[in-house]
Amino acid sequence: MAEIKTIGIGNDHAAVDMKQEITEYLKELGYQVVNFGTDTAESCDYPEYGAKVGRAVASGQVDAGVLICGTGIGISIAANKIRGIRAAVCSDPVSARLTKEHNNANIIAFGSRIVGIETAKAIVSAWLDADYIGSGRHERRVGQLHALEEE
Ligand code: RB5
Repeated sequence: MAEIKTIGIGNDHAAVDMKQEITEYLKELGYQVVNFGTDTAESCDYPEYGAKVGRAVASGQVDAGVLICGTGIGISIAANKIRGIRAAVCSDPVSARLTKEHNNANIIAFGSRIVGIETAKAIVSAWLDADYIGSGRHERRVGQLHALEEE
């Protein structure tokens, strides 16, 4: 992945507050943040927001994405339906680092009902600070992931 400068962020009603806190954190780190999520507590459907961020990443409108719902699961499943997306749900910073190094995850996801804000920040920064090991077995396996999109 090229250098990340612009990050698309998306969320459902379960994660409005965490989205705002993570947005501020990303801005403090120097990233430009584009909000694709909902900003109200009114119940909404996470596939819409996962798809919006997935499309923005896949098209190059943004360099990478952050998705948050109650668990991080539904919204990441939605994003993974978009061709070219590798969205990973993580609840710890080690997994977040490894999913960049090994899977070249272009979207990180987590659950506002699963992790606290400090863990969420640690997940985001571990993922952003890591580099993809873009050779050998990792390159082969990421290629195999995308070959599945042809089925
Ligand atoms: C919303 O209640 C909840 O289902 C959603 O935020 C997410 O956890 C789905 O995977």
